[in-house]
Amino acid sequence: MIRVEDLHRHFGGFRAVDGASLTIETGSITGLIGPNGAGKSTLFNVIAGVLPPTSGRVFMDGEDITGLPPHALFHKGLLRTFQLAHEFSSMTVRENLMMVPGAQSGETIWKTWFQRGRIEREEAALRKKADEVLDFLTIRHLTHEKAGNLSGGQKKLLELGRTMMVDAKVVFLDEVGAGVNRTLLMTIADAIIRLNRERGYTFCVIEHDMDFIGKLCDPVIVMAEGKVLAKGSASDIMQNEAVIEAYLGTGLKNKDMVGA
Ligand SMILES: Nc1ncnc2c1ncn2[C@@H]1O[C@H](COP(=O)(O)OP(=O)(O)OP(=O)(O)O)[C@@H](O)[C@H]1O
Ligand SMILES: [Mg+2]
Repeated sequence: MIRVEDLHRHFGGFRAVDGASLTIETGSITGLIGPNGAGKSTLFNVIAGVLPPTSGRVFMDGEDITGLPPHALFHKGLLRTFQLAHEFSSMTVRENLMMVPGAQSGETIWKTWFQRGRIEREEAALRKKADEVLDFLTIRHLTHEKAGNLSGGQKKLLELGRTMMVDAKVVFLDEVGAGVNRTLLMTIADAIIRLNRERGYTFCVIEHDMDFIGKLCDPVIVMAEGKVLAKGSASDIMQNEAVIEAYLGTGLKNKDMVGA
């Protein structure tokens, strides 16, 4: 689905991504882990068109998509969610879903004026779709809640729901589990697994929580210092000497690796 070739993204003299090459297989839920500052989010930003690369190429289904802007990638079915949720806080949960660009067929004033009947039918269809998404995510009871009142985890679910309003192919999730309670984290994991199995979404998931990664991801890619260090099953990765070394080297995230 996605192939990254010798990607670099430098900030001044600093090499945040320093020659990373990797593939994300169609139909997989691929994990992306690595110590703080390894370059994971920067890699996501380059793939998703938020940042241009310094050099290197990104391919989607064999097509060179390097440097395409986020909205162009969105139309190709490549979506990313953000570490911090981007909800419209004064709108309801259902309205937030109905606002997803591409879900409705263009809302020019011209159309609104002359095609009232059609717009109303489209809006009804959109509402139905939003309600299906809310059922799928088991948050139908939050339909009329203002998005600003949701808990952190519920906002992450809403973010995931927004990817379901369009025909996504590959979804990049940056730390969906951060700051989310255990129960909600498992609800999010289940939603990801079902989207993968039932709708064929491919996922690439950045996460520090190794329980979450182990339950969800195969394979797992490890980054350190801007490069890909290893790729394999979660259990192989946790026994890989170079990986353990990279985590120990930071002295910070070692506890994540042993699941403490
Ligand atoms: N816009 C920027 N300007 C300068 N340096 C940056 C910029 N964005 C990221 N960096 C640096 O690049 C390195 C990689 O950052 P990145 O956010 O990609 O790491 P990460 O692997 O996502 O880390 P974390 O697990 O903490 O989220 C860090 O040292 C960071 O300070
Ligand atoms: Mg990050």
